[in-house]
Amino acid sequence: MTEKIKIAILGGSGYGGSELLRILLFHPNAEIGLVTANEHAGKPVSAVHRNLNGLTDLEFATAPEDLPSLSDIDVVFFGLPHGQALSLIPRLPAGVKAIDLSGDFRLDDAELHKKFYKTEHGGDHQQGFVYGLTETNREAIRSAGRIANPGCFATASLLAMAPMAKSGLLDGSVIIDAKTGSSGSGAKPAANTHHPQRMNSFYAYKPFGHQHLPEITQHLQQIAGMENEIVFLTHSLPVARGIFASCYMETTAALTNEDLANLYAEFYRDSFFVRLVDGSPDINWVKNTNFCDISMHSDGRRIIVLSAIDNLVKGAAGQAVQNMNLMFGLDEKTGLVFPGSNP
Ligand SMILES: NC(=O)c1ccc[n+]([C@@H]2O[C@H](COP(=O)([O-])OP(=O)(O)OC[C@H]3O[C@@H](n4cnc5c(N)ncnc54)[C@H](OP(=O)(O)O)[C@@H]3O)[C@@H](O)[C@H]2O)c1
Repeated sequence: MTEKIKIAILGGSGYGGSELLRILLFHPNAEIGLVTANEHAGKPVSAVHRNLNGLTDLEFATAPEDLPSLSDIDVVFFGLPHGQALSLIPRLPAGVKAIDLSGDFRLDDAELHKKFYKTEHGGDHQQGFVYGLTETNREAIRSAGRIANPGCFATASLLAMAPMAKSGLLDGSVIIDAKTGSSGSGAKPAANTHHPQRMNSFYAYKPFGHQHLPEITQHLQQIAGMENEIVFLTHSLPVARGIFASCYMETTAALTNEDLANLYAEFYRDSFFVRLVDGSPDINWVKNTNFCDISMHSDGRRIIVLSAIDNLVKGAAGQAVQNMNLMFGLDEKTGLVFPGSNP
């Protein structure tokens, strides 16, 4: 591919937008034509994302009222708060691809969507969307025009669970116990995500009510026909970045650690960004990267699978770029192969 992919980012001044810019500014096949903000409109990008100081002359525009003017753009990333892409994406000119970081188009079931998100469902437009968990949906993503990028908790949980779900050996309920850093709540401070509240603190939230639960259930049903009930609980960690998911399961037949190693190695044979690790994954080693580290542990019929991602990279912007690469016929790793840091 010689011509660059022309990109618009709507909602580029938030945390998801910040990571899209950090990755796409250095992507060999990408050219950012437009980046928008709301309160930050009119400011230089580097004045808001000061990590990009000296690296870009882009400025934040206000979102174009007139979406058809985006016809010179190849793909639009939506980094907007929940509910906003719902009316915008259906108005995009035909032929302009879209990747939505929000939950607006992730759930097929309208009632579940209304119950968990308290907003309208995409209706007929929903059918045009492909769920963007790259490792389980590659072929559909390659030919997609619209991507619903997975949620951050859902990404960590699904990558941990998918091989076990596919094995058909799960018995009874599955428990997913997941934790997130504070950047999961976006750039705008709120009472419960404010630094003094979170530092040196640890708490659970939304028992049985987190919006990523139906997303996880839906995708495991779609890829593996999994009907096992999932108990899902989310927690708030006193760190800025990272998701850690601990998944507890029982199986109908005993599995050794070697069986698990073989199952996961085979499932993720072609997945560069999934690393199978010994001991425990650690959010330190995936921070700022597109990697998901996973470890598996067996006690016969009782299984624990642990996973760690960076919520803003593999859990949002990195996976979105991985999907863009596939949609434009590129190697999915393009622009995404960079290590984290030690420490
Ligand atoms: N944070 C995560 O870990 C994560 C992970 C996966 C998915 N997501 C999803 O990604 C989306 C963005 O999340 P985020 O964490 O980046 O949020 P954020 O930090 O709050 O950023 C929101 C962006 O939307 C803009 N915006 C806000 N209100 C607007 C309005 N009325 N009109 C136009 N633009 C508006 C903001 O502009 P100004 O700053 O200029 O006001 C900012 O650029 C959300 O739907 C979120 O659920 C987030």
